[in-house]
Amino acid sequence: MTLAAYAKVNLTLEILGMRPDGYHDLRSVVAPVSLADVVTLEPSDEVALDVRASHPFLSAGLDGLAAGDNLAVRAVRLLQRVGGVRSGAAITLEKRIPAGGGLGGGSADAAAVLNGLNDMWHLGIPRQDLAALGSEIGSDVPALVLGGPVLMEGRGERVSSLHDAYDGGCFHMVLANPHAFCSTAKIFSQCKVPLQNRPEILYNMRQAMRSGSGAAVARALQNDLAAAAMRLHPELEETWRRLEAAGCLGVSMSGSGATVFGLVGDAVEAGRVAHELVKDGLWAVPVETVR
Ligand code: C5P
Repeated sequence: MTLAAYAKVNLTLEILGMRPDGYHDLRSVVAPVSLADVVTLEPSDEVALDVRASHPFLSAGLDGLAAGDNLAVRAVRLLQRVGGVRSGAAITLEKRIPAGGGLGGGSADAAAVLNGLNDMWHLGIPRQDLAALGSEIGSDVPALVLGGPVLMEGRGERVSSLHDAYDGGCFHMVLANPHAFCSTAKIFSQCKVPLQNRPEILYNMRQAMRSGSGAAVARALQNDLAAAAMRLHPELEETWRRLEAAGCLGVSMSGSGATVFGLVGDAVEAGRVAHELVKDGLWAVPVETVR
């Protein structure tokens, strides 16, 4: 079977505090977008992995990784254990989402494997339970198992669908990366935890999504990790300014970076802005949110 493993952007990402386990408590509105890795799963006695990428930038960081550490392989092992399954799976990952870019690429692959093998092995694990299992693999996996726009809380393990948040429409944006990689652990460790509660951030984003207005979503964007990421990687700030100068309605960063994204009015505008940035030597793609 062949599955689309959609990348995500964080429309909001609030750091609420430190947890006793060393992780941070988050509140984030996560939206999958139309950039996807292609994941193929075939029945096999063994667990095998084949990673293909058309450009080294897309697989950098994955190359040095032992196959057993790949999140897609960890997803197979997890389902074998939970489902008491002896068969394996041959996985092919065709990478289109850059690794280490804050777009949840590795997590998206793992989420697709969990959903795919749950079907292929007839395990019948309910989607919400599969999402909870996914938190063992990575903080972004539960949201991507659930699919569609999601409110993510805790370390990432508490997820609830925001499907009612927008009725049929989609938002257009441009993803851009100056060929940088951010270490998630390092960015989190540099981030000063805000003490005040800001309930308006989630409220404003939900209202904006419901309104269907890209301009309203653009005004409600928030990422508490952005300042720390830009201190460590000044080229991210340049990319941010470049998106603003190209006419984006609003700009933010996804996850812990290094991908920065700009909201635009429609697909034509997204294509125009992405083309401008590619001409400047950046990695940039036009996308839209998917449900
Ligand atoms: O769970 P994941 O492997 O994606 O997290 C990578 C690193 O990011 C963690 O080791 C931790 O340092 C940091 N992190 C955090 N709080 C979170 C998620 C990640 O501090 N909620």
